[in-house]
Amino acid sequence: MSNPIDPKLHEQLQKLQQKYDVMGQDLSSYLDGLLYSDYLTYWDYIHLDTLLSLQTPKTHFKDEKVFIVYHQITELYFNLILWEIDQIVEQTNLTEKFFCERMDRMINYFRQLVNSFGVMVDGMDRNQFLKFRMSLLPASGFQSGQYRMIEICSTDMINIVNTDDRKSMTDVDDINRLLEKLYWRSGATELATGKKTLTLKQFEEKYIEDFKTLGEKHRDRNLRKIYLKNFPNSEEVKKRLREFDELANVRWPLAHLKSAARYLQKDPEDIRATGGTNWQKYLPPRFQKIIFYPELWNETEKQEWGKAGLNFGQ
Ligand code: HEM
Repeated sequence: MSNPIDPKLHEQLQKLQQKYDVMGQDLSSYLDGLLYSDYLTYWDYIHLDTLLSLQTPKTHFKDEKVFIVYHQITELYFNLILWEIDQIVEQTNLTEKFFCERMDRMINYFRQLVNSFGVMVDGMDRNQFLKFRMSLLPASGFQSGQYRMIEICSTDMINIVNTDDRKSMTDVDDINRLLEKLYWRSGATELATGKKTLTLKQFEEKYIEDFKTLGEKHRDRNLRKIYLKNFPNSEEVKKRLREFDELANVRWPLAHLKSAARYLQKDPEDIRATGGTNWQKYLPPRFQKIIFYPELWNETEKQEWGKAGLNFGQ
């Protein structure tokens, strides 16, 4: 004699029946499907085999794998940051609590990235790097679309225009003009000729239309605009935006710069192993002075922006 059906199970079956009835579906067929389907495994769920098939070094140098994997890790964190920004932007009835919780997550992701940069700085043999890097030209982390998207969603576009034009531009709503003057477009010019680098040209070809669409979408709904509209006086919000600003525009760039200095520093010839920028003039955050939330910093802090050793977050 079969056991009577557990009342809890019975209730669940009734709820399922209702759910499938609404859509005109036959519950019994779906239960058959459940009967025949395999149990989910960890490796299928996270697509482990696919994930581990995505590292394809271009050379035989062992340390190239470290280089690829750490870039991929960074892109995944960038993706999580964009995911959180999107939640803030899309939230109807946005509360301070929701905003702060999402900011905390983004801050945490950026902290992980800053703290793990040693994987690059100390984790590869310099001679191997200088060799395998030559076979990757003209590709460069400069072409990270997600990095630029974080910038576009975090602030008004005028704040990511190159320093000179930022001061003089009057029409801060002319998206085409703003796009033209983004700091990284001005920065990626060939040392000798002043022409756009191939790295930049290819990057623009792939992404510039996407950046324009994103810029238009976030013109009135970027993190800065959202904060000014909803929580202009909240100390909790300001504290988090300051830390985010510092992480994105000082601490990460400085951690990254350490890699460039470690691998490219000694010989001017090493410049060949980059996407073509004059990186010593381009990468240090004190030159670009990108600040997402300028109203949250005093004049001294802005002047000192990007100089190592300052504790901006406190
Ligand atoms: C040994 C490690 C690294 C070195 C030597 C290095 C070197 C450079 C250099 C020289 C540039 C300037 C553009 C160019 O001329 O190519 C650059 C830009 C950039 N790299 Fe790296 N990089 C390293 C690791 C990484 C990693 C792991 C990421 C993570 C995605 C990354 C992301 C970027 C980004 C986003 C830029 C543009 C920065 C900006 O426009 O302000 N880099 N890198």
